[in-house]
Amino acid sequence: MKCILALLLLISGVAYAQQQRFLTSLIQRMTLDEKIGQLNLLTSDMDVTGPFMKENYKQDILSGACGAIFNAYTPQYTRMLQDMAMKTRLKVPLLFGYDVIHGHKTIFPIPLGEACTWDLPLMEKTARIAAEEASADGLHWTYSPMVDIARDPRWGRVAEGVGEDTWLGEQIASVKVRGYQGNDLSATNTILACVKHFALYGAIEAGRDYNTVDMSRRQMYQFYLPPYKAAVKAGAATAMTAFNEVDGIPATGNHWLLTELLRKEWGFKGFVVTDYTSINEMIPHGIVKNEYEAAELALKAGVDMDMQGSVYATQLKKLVAEKKIPVKLIDDAVYRVLEAKYKLGLFQDPYRYCDTLRAARVIMQPEHLHVARETAQKSIVLLKNEGPVLPLKQSAKVALIGPLGDAQRDMIGNWSAAGDYKKSVTLLQGLKAAGVAVTYAQGAQVTSDAQLMGKLGLQTGDEDAMLKEALDAARGADVVVMALGESQGMSGEAASRSDIGIPASQKRLLEAVMQTGKPVVLTLFNGRPLTLEWENAHVPAILVTWFGGTQAGHAITDVLLGKFNPSGKLTMTFPRNVGQIPIYYNRKNTGRPMDANNKYTSKYLDVANDPLFPFGYGLSYTTFEYGPLQLSANTLAMNGALRATVTVTNTGGYDGYETVQLYLRDVTASVNRPLQELRGFKKIFLKKGEKQEVRFDITAADLRFYDRNMRYVAEPGEFRLQAGPNSRDVQEVKFELKP
Ligand code: BGC
Repeated sequence: MKCILALLLLISGVAYAQQQRFLTSLIQRMTLDEKIGQLNLLTSDMDVTGPFMKENYKQDILSGACGAIFNAYTPQYTRMLQDMAMKTRLKVPLLFGYDVIHGHKTIFPIPLGEACTWDLPLMEKTARIAAEEASADGLHWTYSPMVDIARDPRWGRVAEGVGEDTWLGEQIASVKVRGYQGNDLSATNTILACVKHFALYGAIEAGRDYNTVDMSRRQMYQFYLPPYKAAVKAGAATAMTAFNEVDGIPATGNHWLLTELLRKEWGFKGFVVTDYTSINEMIPHGIVKNEYEAAELALKAGVDMDMQGSVYATQLKKLVAEKKIPVKLIDDAVYRVLEAKYKLGLFQDPYRYCDTLRAARVIMQPEHLHVARETAQKSIVLLKNEGPVLPLKQSAKVALIGPLGDAQRDMIGNWSAAGDYKKSVTLLQGLKAAGVAVTYAQGAQVTSDAQLMGKLGLQTGDEDAMLKEALDAARGADVVVMALGESQGMSGEAASRSDIGIPASQKRLLEAVMQTGKPVVLTLFNGRPLTLEWENAHVPAILVTWFGGTQAGHAITDVLLGKFNPSGKLTMTFPRNVGQIPIYYNRKNTGRPMDANNKYTSKYLDVANDPLFPFGYGLSYTTFEYGPLQLSANTLAMNGALRATVTVTNTGGYDGYETVQLYLRDVTASVNRPLQELRGFKKIFLKKGEKQEVRFDITAADLRFYDRNMRYVAEPGEFRLQAGPNSRDVQEVKFELKP
């Protein structure tokens, strides 16, 4: 065994030395212009993901002034561009990147929805499939995972993240990196991951995209940085800077962030790319006067590659000539970029990802669609089911009403990469395919707000005629399935909303349909938590389906008909109204915890403190009963372990999944600690009548936090352990951590 290990170490040492020799000698042969070219990333015109395009990127490739391209894919197109790079003096291959966020062609649910599956192996699998398809389609690099913790659902980009919890965010960040990169980047079906947006982008003020962030170091270390760190630890090959400032300095020019923390403290070995033109944006940020200063600040801070801003391309040479920047800094950045290309095997064969046969074989193969359907099923969250209205009888006459009932484009959500919406399944198609007798009426526009309609490219329609058609359909049916919510363009980048309710046009439709007295199932399509107080008070059944991806319509149908028992649990709190925002489960107690009978305590005059649907919440068609939460002991030694057990029984009429959640509270500590923090979960499957003892092992390592002196330690004292089906309905036991 030891011999084999030694041999492996020797081989990897030799390979590393070989790589180093190759890259160093290549860099020695490069002119300064050629080096700077390697740091220049430009978008092709195949897709547009930012405010600014550059016409002549092909010219830049041909002249060696561009080392990487994004928004270009397909074996044919990337081959054509790679051919251009092969005409340059040193034939350094191009690197192709793209936002493969929740699938490449086979589209999975938006990340916020996928997180609600609480199924880590499945999340790794979807990343693996995304990498299989992207790599077969000419891509080397995805701008994912996005691991920004967010507590403000007004921000449209919560759709792209995994919600509000740090610990869960860490787990998901790791599996995503593993899924994309596998354990061998030189395999042709693996791609570079890019952890983003480093850092704190999810904490922008007022949920308004690109806005300011202001945060204490403690808050960063405790709640916002860990998922990025987890991605780095999992080996993320690249990292992307955020648009926002971090402690007064834009992330893209922040030496502390990119060099002290990322490289030195965390040991990040890959290369750092900016977000779209974010070097240039340091000028309006008010940090530098011009692009010359911006380039200097970014390079010195630790940025290796300039996305789309051409600031390095236009300024670095001058900065070197004027001795503002040592060439060594450029060489180091170039080394890191070339190293990524080397690891992918591009120097051996620049066309190794341009295989049309592989693309045809791999992309959207049945197994991928199968996983997409499973993921969409598991992402659906049942918020309410009075009656119960659900599941529907196969024989029921269904009226499907609402602008999202047959909206193919919306099913794949935003950031849907190369996803072909014409291949996505709508709810109407899903119901029909399952043999349900269904009539469809659109009923309303997604919104009738003229300004928003313009932005979403919607046409006006005859709302009264639509409403009449919908009411006729409702009256003729046994049950109404309403397909309402947001269209895909209402979340995602540059899609912040100040009102996160169902738009008025659809609300009017829902109210009118409710008056027909027919049982109604509200099927929501949404890229963020919505405010649903009225809906929750009036509609008997509510399902959150997010944007479920290519197979959305089949998956929702499976749930509606009870072929799949819903099991999703929210990973982001649903507030009662926007005035409660920011609202999140792992809050602190304050010095005046809410007391309904005491005026001078922390609360509102006009709304409760608690959310409408808490973190971790989600119902099933069956019921689960939790036995008492028990601890193996009521003290824990610093080097010891405790076992918590709880027996969960499926007491209802359906087989189903349950996600048993474990929360911790440090009652007294040297700094304020939250009332509860997720520290574990187990997703179990129980047949009806079946029970299972669920175990969690706890050690002092689980109790650590950043103490008064910012040391990551566990402090002796009283702790509470909570377990339950969501963050609200928990039982609690106490134990003590001994010094
Ligand atoms: C987004 C990034 C994305 C980049 C490239 C930016 O606008 O913030 O998340 O990776 O565009 O498309």
